[in-house]
Amino acid sequence: MRFARRLDAVPPYLFAELERKLTEKQRAGVDVISLGIGDPDLPTPAPVVEALIAAARDAATHQYPTNHGSQELREAAAGFYHDRFGVELDPVAEVVPALGGKEAVGHVALALLDPGDVALAPDPGYPPYTSGPLFAGAELHYLPLTEENAFLPDLDAIPAALVARANVLYLNYPNNPTGAVTQPGYFERAVDFARANDVVVVHDNAYSEICFDGYRAPSFLETPGAKDVGVEIFSPSKGWNMTGWRSGLVAGNAEVVERYRQLKTNLDSGMFEAVQRATVAAFTEARDFPREMSEIYRRRRDLVAEGLAAIGLEVPTPKATPYFWVRVPDGHTSESFTELVLEEAGVLVSPGPAYGPSGEGFFRISLTVPDERLEEAVRRIESSLRSGIITA
Ligand SMILES: Cc1ncc(COP(=O)(O)O)c(C=O)c1O
Repeated sequence: MRFARRLDAVPPYLFAELERKLTEKQRAGVDVISLGIGDPDLPTPAPVVEALIAAARDAATHQYPTNHGSQELREAAAGFYHDRFGVELDPVAEVVPALGGKEAVGHVALALLDPGDVALAPDPGYPPYTSGPLFAGAELHYLPLTEENAFLPDLDAIPAALVARANVLYLNYPNNPTGAVTQPGYFERAVDFARANDVVVVHDNAYSEICFDGYRAPSFLETPGAKDVGVEIFSPSKGWNMTGWRSGLVAGNAEVVERYRQLKTNLDSGMFEAVQRATVAAFTEARDFPREMSEIYRRRRDLVAEGLAAIGLEVPTPKATPYFWVRVPDGHTSESFTELVLEEAGVLVSPGPAYGPSGEGFFRISLTVPDERLEEAVRRIESSLRSGIITA
């Protein structure tokens, strides 16, 4: 058998590797606490579940849905964007459902990139910013996110020859894995850059609803001119604990929305109508639920911040996202530290380089486990450190 080379071009999917390690340890009887994957531990809000049940009982939902998405879903999404972000979206031309944000990140690349084109992607970044462009046969140029640049890519530092071939710029704020938020003026700068260089901005807005201390993350589409140059991918996965539901949106520039939809008519047959109705319930009846989730993550964040400070791993407290991006102790690499924490403390964290080369020297903690387990994880890391097994 011979297989296409495109899969060999991408590194093994991070979370598949983490899952393998987790299973191996669990088989060996270790009670591993996984702070690796950002998959909310709490259930989807009741109105969403109830809407799904009612919709599944309605035989009208059992046939192929349309790739355009139901009018009801597109209107609910536009209503949410209006009320939450002050963004006006034409529900007919500027919104289309996605089978989760991940699918959209990947397929948008197939709709926008040809072999020879360049995709600009944050490093560290969500792995599909790499695999999507590579599957499209495009070249990838990583934009380093560093503490010095507040984890915002320096668009002026991109070599002109690469800018000339670039057709996509992925951005993601609030950011995974760094927990960083955008800064005033940054999205405006991105719109100017996109306009000047004929680049499409794809803003992945997976985390705007998980915010703390009064911070409310903006949508990229709030930026004047944003709809002329790009789209935003929105997902209820994190805010509404809906990772298993595979629901999301692509919204913004009508041409990009339409090309993405056209691509998908060839690859999938739309989102199960019952899931569309459930997503409507998230945007309407359960609209305030993400604030409740944010409060839960805030409590967990404070608990972890305290624990990390106590063991000398101080990090800035994130204003959004359920993640901590932490520098490994001196003398360690990301890999040696994550291996040691797994072996000695039975705690799984994500090694920074799994999100790109600039992740070296960091690891990511996800707050998506119950408070007691988080406390236990911090205690275990602390006791490994104190006993000198791990040194900080
Ligand atoms: C930055 C980012 N974008 C998109 C997603 C995808 O979310 P989903 O496909 O569940 O909508 C994730 C999930 O972890 C993410 O971290």
